[in-house]
Amino acid sequence: MRVLGIETSCDETGIAIYDSELGLLGDALYSQVDVHAEYGGVVPELASRDHVRKTLPLIRQVMEASGTSADQLDGIAYTAGPGLVGALMVGACVGQSMAYAWNVPAIGVHHMEGHLLAPMLEDNPPEYPFVALLVSGGHTQLVKVEGLGEYELLGESLDDAAGEAFDKAAKMLDLDYPGGPRIAQLAESGTQGRFKFPRPMTDRPGLDFSFSGLKTFTLNTVAAHALEDGLPDNQTSADIAFAFQEAVVGTLVIKCRRALKETGFKTLVIAGGVSANIRLREELEAALAKVGAKVFYARHEFCTDNGAMIAYAGCQRLLAGQQSPAAVKVRPRWPMEELPSLNGSSTGNG
Ligand code: KG4
Ligand code: ZN
Repeated sequence: MRVLGIETSCDETGIAIYDSELGLLGDALYSQVDVHAEYGGVVPELASRDHVRKTLPLIRQVMEASGTSADQLDGIAYTAGPGLVGALMVGACVGQSMAYAWNVPAIGVHHMEGHLLAPMLEDNPPEYPFVALLVSGGHTQLVKVEGLGEYELLGESLDDAAGEAFDKAAKMLDLDYPGGPRIAQLAESGTQGRFKFPRPMTDRPGLDFSFSGLKTFTLNTVAAHALEDGLPDNQTSADIAFAFQEAVVGTLVIKCRRALKETGFKTLVIAGGVSANIRLREELEAALAKVGAKVFYARHEFCTDNGAMIAYAGCQRLLAGQQSPAAVKVRPRWPMEELPSLNGSSTGNG
């Protein structure tokens, strides 16, 4: 089965074609980061308009580059939520219209399920069951995964998501959006041990997260070292970035180990934008090796938003006979636990 995937949930237009026999045939991404940079975050209406401009040209580009004609497509997958409603509507509209025109089924895919399954696109994919740490700009969740569509939420952030915390810390240090990669880069020249940031909610039981206290701690540290221009000197900024990153990574590692212990599973999957963080990968690999467990993640470009993960997830659900009714319906908020299992009913987004 060959499926076209369309991702337009936030500020990236991602298009890909996945074939269940041949694997990923092509993918392309257009990032709107320059459009939103001057505002310090994503402006929803600008995002929708840019998706309108880019979605069809990118689909054409990926179909041509992969040598796929319309009659070779067996289905269309688009992100149906969670995400920005206007942005989601663009992908849903295009996906449903193309499916109708080409007489193939369409499926609305859950964005976080897409992230969760992205490591399946790699050569050595993880096997079920596993614990998934989903860490993006909007979500921080630990999920018990027994199989495709069999998700149990073990814990989540009670306030900011991990990626959001990176973005806010970056803003405090006057770094551009998205802040995660900028903080990571600045932290490379940071000094170990100069600052010690708290690791929130690690001293009590449970698998929930909270990053708002760390945010306040970062703000106070920046303010305490601010020079006349309101910012610390370069080295101090790097030291703060370092301590901040270590605190987020340390917190995530502790909770992942705890989740593996509670479930008895030996496989951890990390997915979503923050799973691109090198320190997180290194620390998890070291910590899990000690308990005979292994961590899996997608290649760098498939950690952040992309069309390949949507094409893959949609393909699995279409193969199982699921499809979405011919209507442009999106869900800006969508608990992943509401997804039907592959033995379940016939719709992907209700
Ligand atoms: O999954 P994603 O592309 O979009 C959402 O679904 O939200 O995640 C974006 C988030 C942003 O908050 C960004 O700062 C963060 O992922 N991020 C990183 C890194 N790369 C992206 N955070 C830490 N380290 C990175 N290398
Ligand atoms: Zn995402």
